[in-house]
Amino acid sequence: MDANNPIPPDSQPQAHPDACFDASWLDLRRAADSAARVPDLEARAARWLRQRQASAPPGCTLRLLDLGSGSGANPRHLAPRLPGPQQWTLIDHDVGLLARAHDACVGLRDAEGASVTVITRTLDLSRLDPTTLAGADLVCASALLDLVDAAWLEQLADACAAADSALLVTLSVDGTWRFLPDASMSANRAGWTDADDAFVRSAFNDHQRRDKGLGAALGPDAVPALRARLQQRGFDLHQSPSPWRLRLDQPGQAALARALIDGWRDAACAQRPDQAERIAAWHARRLAALGPSSGSGGATLEVGHIDLFATPPRPAHRAG
Ligand SMILES: C[S@@+](CC[C@H](N)C(=O)[O-])C[C@H]1O[C@@H](n2cnc3c(N)ncnc32)[C@H](O)[C@@H]1O
Repeated sequence: MDANNPIPPDSQPQAHPDACFDASWLDLRRAADSAARVPDLEARAARWLRQRQASAPPGCTLRLLDLGSGSGANPRHLAPRLPGPQQWTLIDHDVGLLARAHDACVGLRDAEGASVTVITRTLDLSRLDPTTLAGADLVCASALLDLVDAAWLEQLADACAAADSALLVTLSVDGTWRFLPDASMSANRAGWTDADDAFVRSAFNDHQRRDKGLGAALGPDAVPALRARLQQRGFDLHQSPSPWRLRLDQPGQAALARALIDGWRDAACAQRPDQAERIAAWHARRLAALGPSSGSGGATLEVGHIDLFATPPRPAHRAG
C-alpha cells in the first residue's frame, strides 16, 4: 500500500475489465499526448491559479486533483507549466498504476522550480462523491472522459461548481481519425483512404459507448455533453482541438499507430462479430500500408481529440 493511500488493500475496488489500462499503453501514448495538448489552455489554467493565489493568504498551497490519473501523465506534463506551491492528489482505481504515478511524480517541480507534493488515492470513481473534489483549485482529467456517462458529467459539473474549482479536461476523443499522405505523395492519394475506414470507425465508436464501469459511456459525445452541463452552471469555457498527428516514418509514433489499428480491429470485431472477416481484411490492408515497402514515408495518422478548460462563474476567491 502506498504510504499516502488512505484505502487499505482489502478494500481496493474491483475494476471493470474495460476500464483497466496497461502501463505500457499509457507509456506508448504519453509523447503523442504531450505534443497534442493545447498550450493556450494550460496558460489559462496557470493564470487562473495565480488569480486564485492573489486572493489567498501568502504561500497558500494550490490544490490540484487528477481524476483517472493512470501513471500520472497529467501532473508530469502540467506541474512544470503551473505556478506553485502545488499539491497534487492523483485518483485512480488501479493500485499498480498509481504506484508508478507516485514514483514518476515525486521529483516533479513547479514553474518556479519548487518541489511538488503528491498524494495518491485508490478510489472507484464510478460515483463521483462531491467531497472528493472539495477544496480543489483545479480539477484535471486526461483521456478519461470517453469512459463516463451523462449522470457522471452531472456529478462532475455539480462537484466543480460546489468546490468553486476550475476544470481542465484534456485529450478526450472526438471519434474522428484519418490517414493523410504527405504532400509529395499526392499521386498516391487514393491509396490513403480505405473503403472500410468509415465502417471500422463507426463500429469502434459504437463500442466506445458500452458501459465501462461508469455507466453507458458517452465516447466521442462526452465533450459536448460536458460543455452543456458546465454552461448550465455558468462556467466560462475554452475549447480547442488537440489531435494526435502521428508521423508514420517516426518509429515511436508508428508503433502507436500500429497499436491503434490493432485496438480498432479488436473493438470493431467485438462490436460486429458478424463482420469479423471484413474487419480482419481492413486490418491487414492498414498494417500493410504502414510497412517499410509501402511508401508511407512522411504520411500521418491524425486522431481527433479535444481539450477543454472551464472556470466557475464566481470571481476567483479562496477563503484560505
Ligand atoms: C486512458 S487511461 C488515462 C490515464 C491518464 N490520465 C493518462 O492520460 O495517461 C484512463 C484511466 O482511468 C482510470 N479509470 C477508469 N475507470 C475508473 C474508475 N471507475 N475509477 C477510477 N479510475 C478509473 C483507469 O485506471 C486509467 O488509469
